[in-house]
Amino acid sequence: MKFPKEFVWGAASSAYQIEGHSTEKGGGVCIWDTFCQTPGNIYNDDNGDVACDAYHRFAEDIRLLKEMGGKAYRFSTSWARLDPNADGHWNEDGIRYYDRVVDECLKQGITPWITLYHWELPQAAQDRGGWQNRRTAEGFGRFAGMMAAHFRGRVKHYFTLNEPQCTVGLGHDACIHAPGVKLDRAGCFGVLVNQLLAHGIAMKTIKALDPEAKVGIASTGRLCYPEFEMPADINAAREATFAVSDNDWEFTHHWYLDPIVLGRFPEAEGTELGRLASQVSPEDMEIIHAVPDFLGYNIYNGHSVRAGANGPEYIVRYPGFPRTAMKWPITPRVLDWGVRFLHERYGLPGYITENGLSCNDRVYLDGKVHDLDRIDFLTRYLQNLCKAVKNGADIRGYFHWALTDNFEWHSGYADRFGLVFVDYPAVKRIPKDSFHWYREVVRTGIVTF
Ligand code: FCB
Repeated sequence: MKFPKEFVWGAASSAYQIEGHSTEKGGGVCIWDTFCQTPGNIYNDDNGDVACDAYHRFAEDIRLLKEMGGKAYRFSTSWARLDPNADGHWNEDGIRYYDRVVDECLKQGITPWITLYHWELPQAAQDRGGWQNRRTAEGFGRFAGMMAAHFRGRVKHYFTLNEPQCTVGLGHDACIHAPGVKLDRAGCFGVLVNQLLAHGIAMKTIKALDPEAKVGIASTGRLCYPEFEMPADINAAREATFAVSDNDWEFTHHWYLDPIVLGRFPEAEGTELGRLASQVSPEDMEIIHAVPDFLGYNIYNGHSVRAGANGPEYIVRYPGFPRTAMKWPITPRVLDWGVRFLHERYGLPGYITENGLSCNDRVYLDGKVHDLDRIDFLTRYLQNLCKAVKNGADIRGYFHWALTDNFEWHSGYADRFGLVFVDYPAVKRIPKDSFHWYREVVRTGIVTF
């Protein structure tokens, strides 16, 4: 099986996770700077003060991506670096920094795909209520417009938000992510609605200022695949993927993408969620219903499901089930069936905007990083993705998470997701074995172990 010739191969990163030096030259404090200051929030009390020092070493990263054969780089631009008080007073030095990043991409023949919000909320916006306040959505729209006007002609692909699911669930319920403000169900739903509004306002503003720009959103959430490839299990897996559950609604694709793409929330009559959804005004629904040009899917794992006597049944994972270093289950078939279900429901061109794993990578005695685990994982996942594409799912590209190891949020630097190893004390980059393997995948379109 071979991927289509025009398939976009790339890798991804995000500002807070790689750049460091967030407040240098007029940048503003973001909610992650603040969150990291509280002891116990982050493993080992790590923080993003230096991270991979991409603020100074971005050109080396982009050159490595080029060496790997990458055609596209998905990175985020820190709202706090660019709009320190979230009030539209732009930090010129911040803009110049991203000018250099974008220009380096273009110089290397790499297409920049900018994520406008990968969780780098200016602390100033948080102090005014953050995502609980509708003004944050409006401020984000203004910021997105400035970006589109400034980068017009150079940047043609934007994602408005990265994983609003995590901002709601991890940031405002589980509180293991910034801002770590615990809200009840109604409060979390308000955060969801303000992010959907942010997407809608930003998309409209970008299109008005740069009609050529293509705009998407990067979504994540529960995905299921059939235990056996027979109609009953396939239907059960589809049903389980889009089930309305009171417990994990925050971590689903459809509570976010249905309103954006289909113009309505999922049916949830008789539940508290249904009641909350029915309170969103038709005027707001119109703003939210801003159909993207493409959808980004961040996919790491899923659940095997079969048809049971009383509906879909989750297959319990056996003891010793394969897991990554971070203990996430290894479930390659999610990149086939999960992707097909998403394509069936939304019908829009899709990109895998994140996929990958953390391994216990280290430098071996020969000075190299041998990450066979990653090559095995990616072979399995990408072969399944290829199957989905062959079966008609309109997936046009794949951005590996991540280009380099980086600051993995509440896990700090303990988890390594890169194709390039970062020796943090020396701030040195070492391409892993998977880097060379990925280059062959990009070159041939064929995935073999
Ligand atoms: C996703 C995030 C990304 C990275 C990966 C492992 O949820 O978008 O920044 O942390 O997980």
